[in-house]
Amino acid sequence: MRKILVLGGTAWLGSEIARQLVANGDAVTCLARGDSGGSPIGAAFVQADRYSPDAYAAVADQSWDDVVELSYEPVLVRGAIDALAEKAKHWTLVSSVSVYASNSDAGADESAPLLDPADLDDYGQAKVAAEQASLEALGRRLLVIRPGLIAGPGDGSDRFGYWVGRFALAQDGPVLSPVAESRAVQVIDVEDLAAFIVKAGEDDLTGVINATGDHHALADVLALAAEVAGFAGDRMVVADEWLLRHDVHYWAGPRSLPLWLPEADAAFAQRNNAAFHAAGGGLQDLRRTMQRCLDFERRLGLDRERRSGLSRAEELNLLDQLPR
Ligand SMILES: NC(=O)c1ccc[n+]([C@@H]2O[C@H](COP(=O)([O-])OP(=O)(O)OC[C@H]3O[C@@H](n4cnc5c(N)ncnc54)[C@H](OP(=O)(O)O)[C@@H]3O)[C@@H](O)[C@H]2O)c1
Repeated sequence: MRKILVLGGTAWLGSEIARQLVANGDAVTCLARGDSGGSPIGAAFVQADRYSPDAYAAVADQSWDDVVELSYEPVLVRGAIDALAEKAKHWTLVSSVSVYASNSDAGADESAPLLDPADLDDYGQAKVAAEQASLEALGRRLLVIRPGLIAGPGDGSDRFGYWVGRFALAQDGPVLSPVAESRAVQVIDVEDLAAFIVKAGEDDLTGVINATGDHHALADVLALAAEVAGFAGDRMVVADEWLLRHDVHYWAGPRSLPLWLPEADAAFAQRNNAAFHAAGGGLQDLRRTMQRCLDFERRLGLDRERRSGLSRAEELNLLDQLPR
């Protein structure tokens, strides 16, 4: 039986990893404050604030077959390394494709240049600093996983679920859409990502891997979302310039159209995932992810206040302003 320490395990991805590790028969301990939720049934929970000097006291005198690090705050990452690196056979750092310096080279692989980690308040740069600190301390015991956009029930960012939720809410009414034919989406289901992290640890995989899905045209993803939602209205396709002029934002956050990327950043959704596939990474059918996202959106409420996307009122107001 493997002994795994999950640094986190109470939030979205971390709890799915811990749940799958338990299901795999591993002995799992999650260390977190508990502010984000509980750890999954079957995992031991150590409550600790990683900013406190004795945060790792309860786990640092044990040996671990794998430590799974979910934080990107360099202070927390370094603290964990100092306390635990000598006790770990294998270490998995969950990083991000946001570490890359450029999003203009479609198909770029893991060797592409990284951001300069000068500003640790910047998400991508902090992830680079976390990767560098981990590599320095752990060397060939380290696996760096760089996920692309993660999708599935439980996503607190409200990005991927926006479209299927919006089509379900609008039903026969129109839905505002960016130009989608020439754009790409690359997404990995939270279940598939967790399964890959579990398998990679078991296989003692090291190095760096982009853990992300295959590319799909945004238009195909929107068509699938509409179909899954039973949408019978029109998708009103609007040019980028019009959307930007009307204060609609790219990608995420309030008053945005999720998954819509500037043309210059198109390669953000076209990362090379050959290493992921070669290492045995599996991807479920996007339709299943979409259906699970719709179920989740319905549970939360289709017309709720969202972290990402347009409210239906904002969208109808914008549709009203379209030239006829
Ligand atoms: N969402 C995406 O599309 C996407 C894409 C690429 C990469 N990623 C990466 O995927 C990972 C997602 O992880 P996640 O979903 O499990 O959520 P998360 O919110 O990033 O997880 C943070 C974990 O650390 C714990 N934590 C935070 N501060 C702490 C402290 N001071 N002391 C102890 N524990 C602390 C939290 O638990 P408590 O609050 O209970 O303490 C939580 O379990 C992240 O590394 C993220 O950067 C996400």
